[in-house]
Amino acid sequence: MTDKNKNNLKKEIERRRTFAIISHPDAGKTTLTEKLLLFGGAIRLAGAVKGRKAQKTATSDWMEIEKQRGISVTSSAMQFTYQGIKVNILDTPGHQDFSEDTYRTVTAADCAVMLLDASRGVEEQTKKLFAVCRMRGIPIFTFINKLDRDGKEPLELLEELEEVLDIRSCPMNWPIGMGHDFKGIYDRNLNRVELYKHGSYHERDEVEVVDGNRSALLDLLGESLYEKVMEDIELLDIAGDPFDMEQVQKGELTPVFFGSAINNFGVQTFLDHFLKLAPAPVARVSDIGPIEPTNEHFSGYVFKIQANMNPAHRDRIAFLRICSGVFTKGMAVSHVRAGKTIKLSQPQQFFAQDREMVEDAYPGDIIGLYDPGVFKIGDTLCAGANFVYDEMPEFAPEHFARVTVKDAMKYKQYHKGVDQLTDEGAIQIYRSYNSGMDEMILGVVGVLQYEVFEYRMKAEYGVDVTMQHLPYEYARWIGGTKKQVEGFAGGSNVVVRDKEDRLVALFQNEFGLRWAQERYPELEFYDTPLK
Ligand code: G4P
Repeated sequence: MTDKNKNNLKKEIERRRTFAIISHPDAGKTTLTEKLLLFGGAIRLAGAVKGRKAQKTATSDWMEIEKQRGISVTSSAMQFTYQGIKVNILDTPGHQDFSEDTYRTVTAADCAVMLLDASRGVEEQTKKLFAVCRMRGIPIFTFINKLDRDGKEPLELLEELEEVLDIRSCPMNWPIGMGHDFKGIYDRNLNRVELYKHGSYHERDEVEVVDGNRSALLDLLGESLYEKVMEDIELLDIAGDPFDMEQVQKGELTPVFFGSAINNFGVQTFLDHFLKLAPAPVARVSDIGPIEPTNEHFSGYVFKIQANMNPAHRDRIAFLRICSGVFTKGMAVSHVRAGKTIKLSQPQQFFAQDREMVEDAYPGDIIGLYDPGVFKIGDTLCAGANFVYDEMPEFAPEHFARVTVKDAMKYKQYHKGVDQLTDEGAIQIYRSYNSGMDEMILGVVGVLQYEVFEYRMKAEYGVDVTMQHLPYEYARWIGGTKKQVEGFAGGSNVVVRDKEDRLVALFQNEFGLRWAQERYPELEFYDTPLK
């Protein structure tokens, strides 16, 4: 690589920000995404990202989800340019279901925006997604939404972050009033107030700035609100956590912003601050050590496979996170697991509703590769010496079902379907170990995956399956000597084998798991597979 090319690569990396928005359904992720795209000029009209209403009715109806796929797929990763910065937003699946896809998407991000509904605080799915971010040690930024409605007190919300998520927070701005009395936000850094305007839906909000001018502020807010705000700000200055960039980078301190996405209020302010603080792509872990994004050889890994975007062609798109070097259309790369060289000839990049053929792309970018069935979740592609990224966590399923095929003549298609869906990471398959029968057990993280499985087996492979739900909720990989493990599996405990033949104990509840831990102290029970 010439010096000029090296410099160009460095420049392109520095202007990239790749993040995922993590939230519980209904917190306003779609709304926030829309507004962000609007600022980037990626869409002209809010409401274009996806049909929100339609999507909600589709929670348990896979056919509906299928219908909307064209749109939801393009929003799996979206890019826009804002003030010279290339912003990549990774969209975690929007429906109410919570699946492994959601977790995996987070691995492709360099930081996360945690979106909370001010009246609900930290909710269940936020907790789970937060845990994945924590595991990766990435910076987490918080946007507290829906201040135009009555919600919890801001201080209470900060306490909740600390108590429930064990993360300290540093408010970058502070709401003035809430609900009917919502007047605006005070920017602690710039010492100015951004006045709230209701319903500014399409346009950038006008910002009225009152530069540290306290008497003007008093006039605007009235005495009691003014007093309260001043008290809060004083309290934050004295008792709050000071901003510390190093702690933010380690994910130990979260900068907090307030606003109302639907009213487009506080969103641009958030975006401006966020892009200044958010990290550009950094080194990623591989089996030969960390790989710097500035490494001159192209590399990346597949974090998501979306199948059947066009059922007539059975096409699949593998989403690749670029981690180092420069990607150019048509380049030949090594597909490390398959031990082959492949040509990446139809790469696509995603913008709001459109996808376009991409000529070149850089670390932090997400590209979609046409997949004739050669990729698996977690696959590494690289130019230069071979190595493998170690980024893809595996998750313990929380729901299990015994699968049977209605028509025995269809076994061949059934196995083909199961293999492909396993490669895509849509399901996990286990086999019975101690029941005396070779049964297949389907394991999933989110229950909607069952419906997806059933529907796709029928639609794509022509196989009708029946599923009998099993009462297990906890899967734990068993660690111990062969003899110890066999001793456990030989008893009345339920044990299955995963695709790599590792033994996994299934428990109906936490009590069962604890009982086993006490009864078999020589064994370890892991919630992720042993490598
Ligand atoms: P999600 O993707 O996280 O599931 O949330 P989404 O953006 O779909 O927002 C969920 C609901 O919250 C929507 O209302 C949306 O309009 C509303 N919402 C988002 N931001 C704000 C905000 O700042 N203030 C208020 N008051 N509401 C907000 P909905 O009635 O379910 O849908 P719709 O009829 O508006 O489409």
